Amino acid sequence: MTAEQDFAGRFALVTGAGRGIGEAVVHALAGRGARVLATDLTEDGLTALAGTYEGRVTARTLDVTDSAAVESLVAEAEAALGPLDVAVNVAGVLSVSPVADLPDEEWTATFAVNTHGVFHVSRSVSRRMAARGSGSIVTVASNAAGIPRTNMSAYAASKAAAVMFTKCLGLEVASAGVRCNTVSPGSTLTDMQRGMWTVGAEEASARGVVEGDLATYRTGIPLGRIANPSDIADAVAFLASDRARHITMHDLYVDGGATLRA
Ligand SMILES: NC(=O)c1ccc[n+]([C@@H]2O[C@H](COP(=O)([O-])OP(=O)(O)OC[C@H]3O[C@@H](n4cnc5c(N)ncnc54)[C@H](O)[C@@H]3O)[C@@H](O)[C@H]2O)c1
Repeated sequence: MTAEQDFAGRFALVTGAGRGIGEAVVHALAGRGARVLATDLTEDGLTALAGTYEGRVTARTLDVTDSAAVESLVAEAEAALGPLDVAVNVAGVLSVSPVADLPDEEWTATFAVNTHGVFHVSRSVSRRMAARGSGSIVTVASNAAGIPRTNMSAYAASKAAAVMFTKCLGLEVASAGVRCNTVSPGSTLTDMQRGMWTVGAEEASARGVVEGDLATYRTGIPLGRIANPSDIADAVAFLASDRARHITMHDLYVDGGATLRA
């Protein structure tokens, strides 16, 4: 089987699919033959995806912070479209603030999506996958989960929790044939990344990301470039596929070496 057909006959759920990395994951899976249920908070980015790949992409709104909505969409999707073979948690939010100024609401809202959302979706799909004896779950975390960063405490902590949750789940369901892995991207060219750049100085901001910043103890990117969403999506597709059939509880860093994997 070629990589182009890795997901022929498979059905995948993707959260946060309306733009950025989530949208690239939909293309990576559907482009390799999967039927994909692409979900996001609003229909904005989903409209263009709906019906693509010869009708294999179905689009639905889903707020991953809403446990009941997650459960009901998964149940409904499986009844209408068949059993899920793959689930990819991509939905995520970032807010930037020093701890001293971080409001309760921002801390809670960050965990609601980045950690609780991953729990809601993974619990719902893993139960069903384990009962059937196969499945693959990939959670997109962040390299910020593995290295301290200034002004990113809530984000980094929420992603570290998602990584450890996914490993624990992976251990619980391994004997049932379900694999659970994380992909931890570094800086990737999306709206989330651009949101941290200085308005009117985007080129200099991008250069700063690649070069690093000693004042904030931030390393640069040894491979000398910011990732494209497809760089992350390709790693997700690999871990979701049978090519990674002997890999579980793994955390794959796709960050151009930024964290020196220390
Ligand atoms: N861009 C980067 O540099 C970078 C680096 C490391 C990790 N990540 C992670 O990759 C993932 C995708 O990031 P991105 O850069 O594409 O971000 P993005 O902001 O461009 O896209 C995130 C998507 O998640 C959706 N979303 C937010 N809250 C949601 C909710 N409650 N329910 C459902 N969907 C929701 C948004 O609507 C959006 O479409 C995130 O989990 C992010 O933390 C991104």
